[in-house]
Amino acid sequence: MQPTAIDALLQETRTFPPSEAFRQQANINDPTIYERAAQDFVAFWAQQAEQLLEWFEPWQTPLEWQPPYAKWFVGGKLNACHNCVDRHVRTWRRNKAALIWEGEPGDTRVLTYGDLHREVQQFASALKSLGVRKGDRVCIYMPMIPEAVIAMLACARIGAPHSVVFGGFSAEALADRINDAQAKALVTADGGWRRGNIVPLKRNADDALRHTPSIETVIVYQRIGGDYTVNMQDGRDHWWHDLTRDAPLTCPPEPMDSEDLLYLLYTSGSTGKPKGIMHTTGGYMTGVTLTAKWVFDLKDEDIYWCTADVGWVTGHSYIVYGPLSNGATCILYEGAPDYPDRDRFWAIVEKYRATILYTAPTAIRAFMKWGEQYPQKHDLSSLRLLGSVGEPINPEAWMWYHEHIGGGRCPIVDTWWQTETGAIMITPLPGITTTKPGSATRPFPGIAAAILNDQGQPVDANHGGYLVITQPWPSMTRGLWGDPERFVQTYWSKFEGRYFTGDGARQDDDGYFWLLGRVDDVINVSGHRLSTMEVESALVDHPAVAEAAVIGIHHEIKGQGVAAFVIVKEGYTADEALQNTLKQHVAQKIGAIARPDQIIFTAELPKTRSGKIMRRLLRDIAEGRALGDTTTLADPAVVQALKEKYEGQEE
Ligand code: WT7
Repeated sequence: MQPTAIDALLQETRTFPPSEAFRQQANINDPTIYERAAQDFVAFWAQQAEQLLEWFEPWQTPLEWQPPYAKWFVGGKLNACHNCVDRHVRTWRRNKAALIWEGEPGDTRVLTYGDLHREVQQFASALKSLGVRKGDRVCIYMPMIPEAVIAMLACARIGAPHSVVFGGFSAEALADRINDAQAKALVTADGGWRRGNIVPLKRNADDALRHTPSIETVIVYQRIGGDYTVNMQDGRDHWWHDLTRDAPLTCPPEPMDSEDLLYLLYTSGSTGKPKGIMHTTGGYMTGVTLTAKWVFDLKDEDIYWCTADVGWVTGHSYIVYGPLSNGATCILYEGAPDYPDRDRFWAIVEKYRATILYTAPTAIRAFMKWGEQYPQKHDLSSLRLLGSVGEPINPEAWMWYHEHIGGGRCPIVDTWWQTETGAIMITPLPGITTTKPGSATRPFPGIAAAILNDQGQPVDANHGGYLVITQPWPSMTRGLWGDPERFVQTYWSKFEGRYFTGDGARQDDDGYFWLLGRVDDVINVSGHRLSTMEVESALVDHPAVAEAAVIGIHHEIKGQGVAAFVIVKEGYTADEALQNTLKQHVAQKIGAIARPDQIIFTAELPKTRSGKIMRRLLRDIAEGRALGDTTTLADPAVVQALKEKYEGQEE
């Protein structure tokens, strides 16, 4: 855990109670909710599930818990799409905006709940006509356009679990995910816009499709069109507009069991192989609906904007399922924050009078660096609440966000959670919690967390340890697709019966949680999870590389950057050209987010006697810290040589 991070956290001592005005109007403002929920957490969640969702059939048992296997709302029947769309069109919300979309080039569309209802049903009918059935996996590889959301909801409607793959991932990453899920259909677009360039989604998909025998059908939405043509394979590839033109306008929602799979979402772990996180229907919908309502204080009048991509869990839970289940109006933006200029986000906030903004610390740090003149050009007075997610937010960024975006008046909710947890777990409640910049504060009502040492004992206040969740919660992952052993091994073996998050944390004297980063071989680059091994595999795949060790290093904007120590094979020259080639190679193999910031050539890697690479040492070297204890090294001279070599390169 980085001492620099802790030092920074200790510098800011101001605290921020909710204003009386905010407190008064908040969806939840009774502080006794924490104790009430803790008294009987199962009853608490059961009551929420009943009140917040529409069930076709009631459940018999709220929770069956055989650690690590949980079943929530057992026997209940519901449909996620019905809860996000159908139930709203029966009310005045039929003509309320569900999605306000802005494309990067400036084109816009508004879809009401009524529009969404129609489009989702048409697309669901189209999927059915192509032979997609309940239980079939559908892969979605899309830009940030309304059709990404429509495709997800259509899958949920017919009970076909979706597996959304972020549009920034490479062809190979896409193929791996399709194959692991054995997806039957792929939904994609000809392309998307990013910084004025076309992201060639269909061309990437074509490369992937040469290695994905399970895919029977491909549906392509025409986002770019014009002169930009893509290859369409006869019999396999269909245009979205052709399929939906005459598709039946009604397609009733499939009654799903509470524990039926809603979706798979791949994320990185500490090995090279991404894991397919499984989320089921009833518990997940309960978790995301309640947290969206309480953490973001969502009201019918709000214009809510989560800047994540639907390819990540933040997009799943807080662009799609959570907000739409609450009947909210959501902004969806396709492109980059600095295109055409660095004020794009603030122009969007002003244009649509956004009231809630949920973004990541990496973005906030970039805005800080660009300067406050960009937000100052726009009227941001509509904002009333700000959120942060993805990585620890440094107090400096928190204060900047508070002052320059929130105008000093908006509560900030720093929300800690994971793909696996499905919903927000540690967070302020904006009408209750006094916030401290840099702290995610307290577990959400009905969630119980602890910080343990290696022996599984709770650590004292102000001591770092492992963050664990000590009781089941409705939106918890039900496992890893096709790999039950890895599920038990990764999350449930370190501390019996308790969920191991992979994060370090400490609690202060007030019981507030301070997240300290990952304690495993996962690195967090701009709020995106990468496994060091995944990047290492991509590197050794290059003919010039004999061996590689990858670590996360401190990065001013991205939180963490990627540093790779590389041993070059004989016959290759370790020069700048090769560094660039290798960076490009990794970006092409995985995606741009994995592109190493630094490639450090070395003759040897520091290893323990058992042959494990000593990453801590590499980190010390890369970040220029003094060497610690090296006695477990096979050859301590290696480290000294590496350190000198590295210091030489830095100049
Ligand atoms: C990891 C989960 C959850 C949506 C985005 C990332 C880190 C996430 C915070 C936060 C400190 C955070 C953790 C976690 N993380 N939010 N508010 N404060 N750290 O989802 O890709 O599954 O990554 O992101 O390290 O384990 P993810």
